[in-house]
Amino acid sequence: MKKMFSVLIAAITIFCSVFVASNINNITADESYATTYSVQDMVNLQKFILSELKGEDILDKKYDLNNDGTCNIFDICLMKWRLLNNQNIENNDEVDYLVAYFSRTGNTEKIANHIVNITNADKYEIEAKISYTDEDIQYTNSSCRANQEQNDKTVRPEIAQSIENIDTYEVIFLGYPIWWGEEPRIIDTFLESYDFSDKIIVPFCTSGSSSIKTSENNIKNLGISIDTQMSGRRFSSNATESEVASWIETLDLPTNKEETEAKLNIKIGENLLTATLEDNSSAKALIELLDFEPLTITLNDYANFEKVGTLLENLPRNDEQLDTDFGDIILYQGNKFVIYYDKNSWSFTKLGHIDNITKEELKNILGDDSVEVTLSILK
Ligand SMILES: Cc1cc2nc3c(=O)[nH]c(=O)nc-3n(C[C@H](O)[C@H](O)[C@H](O)COP(=O)(O)O)c2cc1C
Repeated sequence: MKKMFSVLIAAITIFCSVFVASNINNITADESYATTYSVQDMVNLQKFILSELKGEDILDKKYDLNNDGTCNIFDICLMKWRLLNNQNIENNDEVDYLVAYFSRTGNTEKIANHIVNITNADKYEIEAKISYTDEDIQYTNSSCRANQEQNDKTVRPEIAQSIENIDTYEVIFLGYPIWWGEEPRIIDTFLESYDFSDKIIVPFCTSGSSSIKTSENNIKNLGISIDTQMSGRRFSSNATESEVASWIETLDLPTNKEETEAKLNIKIGENLLTATLEDNSSAKALIELLDFEPLTITLNDYANFEKVGTLLENLPRNDEQLDTDFGDIILYQGNKFVIYYDKNSWSFTKLGHIDNITKEELKNILGDDSVEVTLSILK
């Protein structure tokens, strides 16, 4: 059986290049393009083809990649292509931002996740070797562990796992909750564990109401070498991603190598428009969706101010009350792609804006009726 497997894989590999090259243009944009496949998926599909797995075993999997109603060798080819494509994208990433954070009840983690979404940073959770129980942080009990630690500036709770390759990061967002007006002592453990002499540290915290100031001074006075300690920021536990993005925009940081200058191409008939994308998780998800291949959708005219069409999958929403104008590209209700050629006000998500175009030019290109647009990503 092993031999048969190897023969099959060899056949697939040869077949892939020929098949993919000749058939890829026939593929319609489909939900499965947003699906990430693993080597295990390839194995599952191979087992299914070899009748080692039954149909019901793969029923809930999106293995019919070319949408022909059956899972066969063609789907393995596409899956392999997709897998290699993803690996290439990952390997090319030169990440130099890190979000390191400690969060006992999840508030700081939410902000950390926003920063990761906005900057494409890597994420590292600072976890205590002996984790903090609910009793440990019961601050109304004067002798709880957290209170004892905060009362003694020399305590250094041990960290469960060290971070690999800290040398690769230039900018480190450092997040923590405020405990008794200060950073939890485990943050001091973290700061004393590595060499930050060539790194930029950007502190951020969550708290009931206390400011970040005392903790910032504590970090400055730790006696460790930090290349640059930027001014930090306190957030409430329910701060939105756009609030966090507005803060990050004010920081004078070197550009993250992973941040992409990706532009959106919009082909309408013979016209090719280019749009600058927003720095939010919705635009990033659109880039991912289009990374695999262009998407053609029909946009219908609505209310004399927009052309709107449906995407095949939902993108993350960053809705806020906005005043749109011509050229704005909007995500509405998570799955409606909208091009504005006139003004409107509503709560939705801005994806980007069409570059260098006048209102009249845009109106002429879009016309009065429905219009077919092909979206692709230019890097
Ligand atoms: C031991 C302890 C002490 C705290 N001290 C303060 C404080 O001095 N000022 C404040 O505004 N909030 C204080 N808080 C509230 C936390 O800062 C706040 O709930 C924070 O968002 C928790 O973050 P996390 O969910 O990431 O752990 C304290 C919480 C604990 C558990």
